Amino acid sequence: MTKRVAVFISGSGSNMQKLLESMKDDHPARACVVLSNDPRAGGLDIAEAAGVPTEVVRHEPFKGDRVAFEHALTGALAHHAPDLICLAGFMRRLTAGFVDPWRGRMLNIHPSLLPKYRGLNTHRRALEAGDAVHGCTVHEVTAALDDGPILGQAEVHVLPDDTEATLAARVLEQEHLLYPAVLARFAGGDRRPVMLR
Ligand code: GAR
Repeated sequence: MTKRVAVFISGSGSNMQKLLESMKDDHPARACVVLSNDPRAGGLDIAEAAGVPTEVVRHEPFKGDRVAFEHALTGALAHHAPDLICLAGFMRRLTAGFVDPWRGRMLNIHPSLLPKYRGLNTHRRALEAGDAVHGCTVHEVTAALDDGPILGQAEVHVLPDDTEATLAARVLEQEHLLYPAVLARFAGGDRRPVMLR
């Protein structure tokens, strides 16, 4: 049966857009909702233009009460009945209370070759470390930050004159290839990692 996918975003939503574009024809999944914690997220317009329902659950009113925010997320998802959640640039940390019931059914994309550079400023950290190879990872979400079984990685060669911006742009190009490839395989029941080199 076709899997229903909720995509969580916080910003421009370019990865979300690539996921939406990929879910057609004989793809084993379809987007059922795009949810943002920020009403200004550019990705909301993209989702609406694509005819996908959107939800906004702002985090500020909860003033750091993550559990209450997550109850609101669960409430917003309820009538969309997703089977899977794809975090696509969703910049809020989720607690075990939300993550654990979705274990094995929630994916995230992160702009580094995990387990390197969990957290923020991944491109700067790769440059500062003098890495020759950088990239991105799609993984199953666990309650630990940017952790969980790896479902795919794409490598990007670091060039001598790379800046944070040029490196980020080339990694993002790979994210746009990797995430749809992983989702198609995962939603079809195959958890073998996708490795793009
Ligand atoms: C992407 O580079 C994604 O990997 C990153 O945010 C960007 C969102 O861009 N996610 C994280 O850093 C999560 N830890 P997008 O909104 O254009 O897809």
